[in-house]
Formats: sequence, structure tokens, C-alpha cells
Amino acid sequence: MDPSYEISPWQLRWRGLDLEALRRTESTFALSNGHIGLRGTFEEGEPRGLPGTYLNGFYEQRKLPYAEAGYGFPEDGQTVVNVTDGKIIRLLVEDEPLDMRYGSAPQHERTLDFRSGTLRRRTEWISPTGRRVRITTERLVSFTQRAIAAIHYTVEPLDDKIQLVVQSDLLANEPILSRTEDPRVAAALDQPLVSDFAWAEGTRAVLAHHTRQSGLRMAATMDHEVHLDDDGVRSEISASADLARLTIAADVPKGGKLSLTKYLGYGWSSQRSSPALRSQVEAALVGALQTGWDGLLAEQRAFLDEFWDTADVEIEGDAELQQAVRFALFHVLQAGARGESRAIPAKGLTGPGYDGHAFWDTESFVLPVLTYTIPDAARDALRWRHTTLDQARARAETLCQKGAAFPWRSINGDECSGYWPAGTAAFHINADIADAVTRYLNATEDREFEVECGLELLVETARLWMSLGHHDTHGNFRIDGVTGPDEYTAVVDNNVYTNLMARKNLRSAAALAERHSEEAHKLGVDEEETARWRDAADAMVVLYDEELGVHPQSECFTQHARWDFKHTSAERYPLLLNYPYFDLYRKQVVKQADLVLALHLCGDEFTPEQKARDVNYYEALTVRDSSLSACTQAVMTAEVGHLELAYDYFAEAALTDLHDLHDNVQNGLHIASLAGAWIACIAGFGGMRDHNGKLTFAPRLPEELAKIAFRMSFRDSRIGVEVRPERAAYRLLSGKSLELAHHGKQFTLANEPVILPIPAPPANPTPHQPHGRAPARRRPR
Ligand code: BGC
Repeated sequence: MDPSYEISPWQLRWRGLDLEALRRTESTFALSNGHIGLRGTFEEGEPRGLPGTYLNGFYEQRKLPYAEAGYGFPEDGQTVVNVTDGKIIRLLVEDEPLDMRYGSAPQHERTLDFRSGTLRRRTEWISPTGRRVRITTERLVSFTQRAIAAIHYTVEPLDDKIQLVVQSDLLANEPILSRTEDPRVAAALDQPLVSDFAWAEGTRAVLAHHTRQSGLRMAATMDHEVHLDDDGVRSEISASADLARLTIAADVPKGGKLSLTKYLGYGWSSQRSSPALRSQVEAALVGALQTGWDGLLAEQRAFLDEFWDTADVEIEGDAELQQAVRFALFHVLQAGARGESRAIPAKGLTGPGYDGHAFWDTESFVLPVLTYTIPDAARDALRWRHTTLDQARARAETLCQKGAAFPWRSINGDECSGYWPAGTAAFHINADIADAVTRYLNATEDREFEVECGLELLVETARLWMSLGHHDTHGNFRIDGVTGPDEYTAVVDNNVYTNLMARKNLRSAAALAERHSEEAHKLGVDEEETARWRDAADAMVVLYDEELGVHPQSECFTQHARWDFKHTSAERYPLLLNYPYFDLYRKQVVKQADLVLALHLCGDEFTPEQKARDVNYYEALTVRDSSLSACTQAVMTAEVGHLELAYDYFAEAALTDLHDLHDNVQNGLHIASLAGAWIACIAGFGGMRDHNGKLTFAPRLPEELAKIAFRMSFRDSRIGVEVRPERAAYRLLSGKSLELAHHGKQFTLANEPVILPIPAPPANPTPHQPHGRAPARRRPR
């Protein structure tokens, strides 16, 4: 791990000031509740990497540029906006501004605490003229009060009495360096907020703005509690269009301190007026003031206690991965906890990467984790998809298809992908959404969601497959001209992953429509339609290459020339930035797990021998130019018995952000890869599968690990699984008894723990990766 992160089981701490690392640590130290996101910038605003304050769903719109336009290309793009920054608290020590680029800092550390849900900072600073102060801060974005963030700020003179001036700001349209070379994007994001009003009185201020193109409105408010044992304090407040500021000046003696609690309230809407938004954020703010700082801390801790009680993963034998997996779970929780009918973006709310868009990352990687750890958050994310059904239906119509076609990337539900071979054509996202619905329903038996949202999502996605595919002259059901997860192979026929996922989609839609025939009838579904879905599912083409004894990823794939890995040097990865797409498309080279993802998610469709052969075949072709690959490779290499390799992949998924493996953490965390750390652990070494609503395990550890223990929730019960090299112990922590399976043997888990032996792994030939693309060998620290 980067030497400046300290390894500790429940915290991420960075000691010392490293200006170069700021952009990265602002992402890893970001706080969010899924509604508000604050990057981990310093209170004093500078030095900084990339400041960022985000509200989930708040974006600006811009025209998408095309050199050559085509029918059905989306016209508008969306970009997440850096909204009014409320984190800023500047400090003047006598007449010198606190700026860590000047003077010296004998002590400086920041700690993200996964149990308190706060970011703490402790800095001792000596100004250039020798004045010493200690600054201690703690901030949170509340999990319990969705519109609220708060900062507790304390400054203490360490030598003499000092005059301190603190300025607490709300700052809109913060100038930031453009991250893009495209002037149109830069223009849309330059000063994106237009002021509606600014107001300040006492210790409170409100700023309200709207965006020019998307027409969204937002309001931010702040209020303060000042604690100082001195009457000589002077305070002023002011507000102008883009800046509200509370200034407090005081003489503070040595041994005394000036403390400030800053409460922030945020809200946005596409419908509500600015005055209505102002009322909303002020009401939330008064609620937070009534709870108080200690109350907010206590609520935050209680929320996280409950989460860890259901979701914790313990790892014995690798302290760094123990930390990484909790860091991962904490950020996945932050991304999804209170999104509530909004998308979960690929970067969560930790940075502007991917323009703030949500992809299939959510349903295929993040929701499997949330479903078993905080199922309400999974439900809310799926409710968001449901709220966008009309847009998805309209999109399907534009594409001359039936049913619903969900966007490849979006903030508000409209397609924003300007590159159709790896956008529109990636129709598998629809089956991924359907699969997430089915998984959630199986895991929770949430009948209300099933009828209100689940049914319609499954019906409309099933209809899409029926219009995208067709029965050929032999009666086989083909889905031609689509792109699977591997973006280095585009617009192909019968992508095995897509076909198998579509088959699941069709079958579960038919089953649900039969269970709720009356509601299905209202959606226009009759028996004839469900029969057609089942026929198509049964007749679905699943390719197999008899000669090689493997599944080709798509039609003709195994006949293509192999990529010349030997002569592809390390610096030419990622390939998409260094080679033309046409060449990638016509060769055997795989960006990310595709067929191997089918082996995981549709594992009941393959024999163990097929899995072992397929894993070997695709290991030799997969370059992992996407962070969405390592976790799936961990799961499948573990299943076929390559436990050491699985351990390497697990580490890669878990450390993607902490080690900045893709050199882009500055733009935000890779939430799907973080979710992948959990998947690699629970589905990889725990062997957890959920085919057809049955929860099964097949645990096995790599030699380096002495134990993995995890918890999860399933149908109102909570279970704990403890895996050791020789045996696994299953415990029912709460709720009703469950039918589970261990390495293929069924058992009932009731009040007594069940302890079962772990069989030896299957012996399969060792796979090889493309030249230079093997994962780093994991050496536990
Ligand atoms: C991957 C996609 C993914 C996107 C966002 C791309 O590099 O190929 O599968 O959805 O990143 O994470």
C-alpha cells in the first residue's frame, strides 16, 4: 500500500502533507450518504487537488458533439455539477492565513473512521512568523438526516494569546481547472450556477441557484454554533450571489480554544421553486441543530453499528486486505445508503469521473453487495430505474424496439452515451437490471416492491429481448448485433453472456407475470405472451466450440486472430487509448470478464469441467483494462481451484483505489471494483451463489489466509459464515431458520451452529495471462 496510508482494521489514516497525493486522498477521504457527496478537501480550501461537492442527480446538460451524426444518437449529455461548497472554513492566525504550503506542520494527519462515519483531521501548524496553533476537525455527511452535513472545527493557540479570525463560507461557482480538452464541456461547467437569491442573518445563510440548461434548482444553507470562553468575540455575516460568509474574530488565550460547529443543509429539485427549496433546506437545518453535533455523531455511529452488524467481513492473515475490504464496504455504503430514487453513479459521489454517470456497474456489482448487506438501499436504487421506465420505453421506441431500453450511461435516465458500439449496443444492461430485481426479490421476498416495480421492470425488459432477438429457421432464438461486457468485442451475434442473462430475464418475467396475473394483465401481458417468452428462453442460442471444448464469447470469436500480446508493451495499456477499435474488435483480446462473468452469474448453466476450461481459455486473453474484471476473475479462479490466483485478483479489486492501480483515483473511486472486493471475498472464497433464489456456499481459502468471516442478511434472517482452512461454521445470528448448502450438500441452519469440512480444491491446469498482464503476486503485509 502507499506508505502514507497506515494499516489499521477500522480506519484509513494518512500522516503528513503530500501535495502530490491530495487529489487521490480527496477521493479516498470523501464522505457521502448517497445524496450529498463531499470530497476530502481541507477546510481552508487550499492547497487542493480537485474540490467537489455533489448532489446526487444534480447535473448540467450540454449538446453531445458528433462529427458524423446518425439516427438515434442521443443529442444531450449530462455532467455532474460541483455545487455550492460548504466545507470551507478559513483561518487567519494573527494576520497570516493558514495555508499548509507555508510555515511548517510538525503534525498533520487525517483519518477516515469506518465506525464513526467521520473524517477527522489533526494539524499542528507553525506560521511563517512562528505562531503555533492546533486545528482539530471532524466532519460527517449524515446517514440519518439525508440533507445534512456538519463540521466540528476547533483551533487552539499553543503558545501565547493569539487573535484568530475564522471565515466560514458557502461558495458557489468555485473556479476549478478544467479536466477536459473538449471546450464545450468546459464551457458548460464554467460557472454552471446562476444565482436565484442570497440571504444571511445572525449565524445563518442561504444561497439558491439554478443551472442554465438543465434548469435544475438547488439551495444550500449553513448555520453555526460558536463556542468560546470570551466576550470579546466579534462576528459578521454577509451574503452575495455566490458567496455567503460568517466571520468570527476573537482573542484566544493559550490553553483556550475557539470551537465552531457548522451545520450544512442541501436540497435540489427540478420542480420546486427556489423559495420552496429554501424552506426545505432550512427546515432540515433546524432539525440538525436540534439534534446537535453530539446527537448527529451518535446517530451516525448507531447507523454504522447496525450496518457492520449485518455486513462486516473479517480477514485473518492479511491486515492490509482487512482494511481494504472494510474501506470498500464503507464506500459502497456511502454511495448507496440514502440515494433514494436516484442512481448510484460509477464513482458514487466522490469525484467527477465518467461525468457522474451510472452504468451497469450499479446492478451487476454494487447491488449484489447492497442486497445482502443493506437491502433497502438496493430496493431504492431499483426504484430509481423504475421511475425512468417511461424514458426507457421511449428509447426502445426510438431504436425501433418494444419494451424498455435502459441507458448505458446516464444521470437522469436518458441515454448519454455518444459511442453506440459500447453504449446503445450494450443491451445486456437490461438483463442486468432484471437480474438485480430478481436477486433482490429472492433475498427479501419484498412483495410490495415486486408488484409495484419488479413486475413491470421484468415485463418491459423481457419485451425488449423479444424484439431484439428472433427465432431462426431452425427455431433457435438468436440475439444478433449486440455488445457484451467486453468492450473490445463489439456489435456481435449471440454473445453468450447476453443470451444467458436474457434467458434468465425472460424466465423470471414469465414466472412473475404468472404469479401476479391480474397486475400483469394490466400491463397487457397474457398467457400467450409469457408462453412466447418461455419458448424463446428454451430456444436461446448458447454457443459452444466443440473443437476447442470452450464457449466462444460470441459468434466466431474463437476463430479470430489472437492479439499479439507478446509485442504489446506495458505502456500501451489500456489498449483502447493506444490502438484503433477496429483492430481490437477483430481480434481475440478481452477487456474485462465477459464469458467468465456468465460462468459466475449463470453458473448453473455450465458443468464444472466447462468452467475450468473456459476460465483457462479466457484467462489467456483478458487484459483487465477495466476495473470491473478482477473481482469476477477472483470468483471464477477460486471456484475452479486456483486459489492463489484468486487471492491475487481479490487483492487487485480491493486495492484498486488505495493503490491507485488505474492512475485515475483523482476523478473518484471505482465503486464497482470496491463492491468487487466484497464479491471476490464472499462469492470467491465463500463460494456464495444465489441461483434461482437458493443461497449456497462452497468456501475455500488460499494458503495465506487463516480465516475469513462474513455476515449477510437473507429473508429477514442474518447469518454469519466463518471459513477456516479445514472447515466452515455457519451461524444464524437472528431471524428464522434457513435452507442452505455447503459444497453441494443441503442443510438447515437453525439455532445450533453448523460446522462442515472443506473438501480439497479441484485440480485443474494452471491458467496463464497475456504477456505482462498477470495480476501482482499478493504478499500479505
Ligand atoms: C467498462 C464498463 C463500465 C464503465 C464504468 C468501462 O471502462 O468497460 O463496463 O461500465 O467503465 O465503470
